[in-house]
This record gives sequence, C-alpha cells and structure tokens, in this order.
Amino acid sequence: MKNFDKTPSFYNSKEVFDKYLNNTSYYKAIQKCLIKIVNFVNPKKVIELGSATGSSTFKVAEKFKNTKIVGYDFRANIVEEAKKLNKFDNVDFICKDMLDFAKEKTNADMIFLLYAFHHIIDPLQTKIDFLKNLHKNMKIGAYICILETFIPEDIGLNDKEKIVNFWQLRSQEGYASTFWNALKGRDVKVENLTRAKEIAAFCKENEYEAGLLVAERKDEYLVHKSWIKNEAEKIGFKTILIEDINAIGEGVILLQK
Ligand SMILES: C[S@@+](CC[C@H](N)C(=O)[O-])C[C@H]1O[C@@H](n2cnc3c(N)ncnc32)[C@H](O)[C@@H]1O
Repeated sequence: MKNFDKTPSFYNSKEVFDKYLNNTSYYKAIQKCLIKIVNFVNPKKVIELGSATGSSTFKVAEKFKNTKIVGYDFRANIVEEAKKLNKFDNVDFICKDMLDFAKEKTNADMIFLLYAFHHIIDPLQTKIDFLKNLHKNMKIGAYICILETFIPEDIGLNDKEKIVNFWQLRSQEGYASTFWNALKGRDVKVENLTRAKEIAAFCKENEYEAGLLVAERKDEYLVHKSWIKNEAEKIGFKTILIEDINAIGEGVILLQK
C-alpha cells in the first residue's frame, strides 16, 4: 500500500490541495468531464472510489441534488476530514478499501474513480481482478467511469525516459495554470508576482516528482486507456466512451455492465 502520509502529495491536506491542484487546468478539465458524464448517465445513486477530501464528491452533489453519492477512501483521517467538510444531505463518506468494496454487491447506478484507479498497485492482475469483482457485483446496466492520467498510447509502460519527458509537460502546465490562478484579479505588482510564482513552483515540483514515481512504477501505477478497454471487454463490460480530455494525459473511459 502507498504510504500517502509520507509521500509529498496534493491530497495530504485540504489546504495544500485547494491552493495548488485545485487551480490547475487539468484538474478543472477532468472534473468538468465528470459532471458531463454524470449528466449523461443520470444516476440515482453514485459511488466514488478514492474520494480523498471529497472535492469531486461535492461537485457532483452540488449539481445533482436528487442523486445520492457515497465516497469511499481507505485512509481514516481523510474520511474524517471529508465528513467534516460535508455540507450536503445527499453525501456520505465511508472508510473502506476499494478492492474490498468491489467484492460486495452494490446497487449504485454509477461508480467513478477520479485519479484513483492508478493507485491500485502492480501487478496489473490486481486491476483486472478489481474490475472482475465490480462486474460481478454491479447491477446490469450500471456504469463505471475511470477518469485518470493515462500513459500516452505511444509510450510503453516501462519506457522511463519517455515518461519522465512527457511529465515535463504536466509540470509546465501545472506551473502555468496555477500561476495565472494565483494572480487572477490582482495587480501585476512584484509581491503578487512573487507569490504567484511560489505557488506555481510548488505545483511544478509536485508534478515533476509524480512523473518520477510514474516512471519507476512506485506508488503510481498508470496504464493506457486501451489496456482498460481491452481487459474490461474481456470481462464483459461494454465501452461506452473512451476519450482524451487534454494533451497531457487526462482521459476518460466509461464502461457499462
Ligand atoms: C488522488 S486522490 C483522489 C482524489 C479525488 N478522487 C478527487 O477527485 O479529488 C486518491 C485517493 O485514493 C485513495 N485510495 C488509494 N487507494 C485506495 C484503495 N485501495 N481504496 C480506497 N481508497 C484508495 C487515497 O487514499 C487517496 O485519497
């Protein structure tokens, strides 16, 4: 299991998360995509696996007031933080490992994972077993939506150099989008520029470090979208949608039982 509390991460505190990742172009784009998909599926009950402090859970709850949404995370402290932040009647949080969740029957109409599927540790068979268990225990017609950073199709899972080079793009994009968000609405004075640069630099550094972990397959076990499609279809899922969200790795795959 990844030691989340020791790894530098946007997700170890809501404060850090709000200041950095929440301001990046890619996090905004992936959440926007999630909302479009929920709108398309029109579910009564949604489960989020790997919900962290509930940023996406709350986004769905706010837009779809008649939808019940339950977030699962296996870190008790994060689940407690999410519960404290919750202001919605239609939201609940539960502390549970998603691999165990998959082994139980669920009546959810839609299950989504946003930046969480890649936390299922290697070997890849663990991801396949997770999908198999979900398929067995989901209702017929229910959906799984995986919103993720994917390895580009033309880069091998173990091609470390290319992965690190590719991640430089994320690092630069993280810097740029966080910088402009930090500056937004403020005069271009030296102190504001300095502050925006400091915030953006943290984002850049965090993405750079993430790229090294991805390349080493250490704590971040990314795959290709096409790999999920192939494995999911072997299990019996239908692929409803498989698309890139941007040019720096974000993508989405929507599967139906
Ligand atoms: C990058 S965060 C996800 C962020 C969140 N979905 C969002 O939209 O902002 C990944 C989360 O997945 C959780 N996680 C990782 N492996 C898990 C597992 N096996 N079961 C449940 N939660 C897990 C981590 O604790 C972490 O909070």
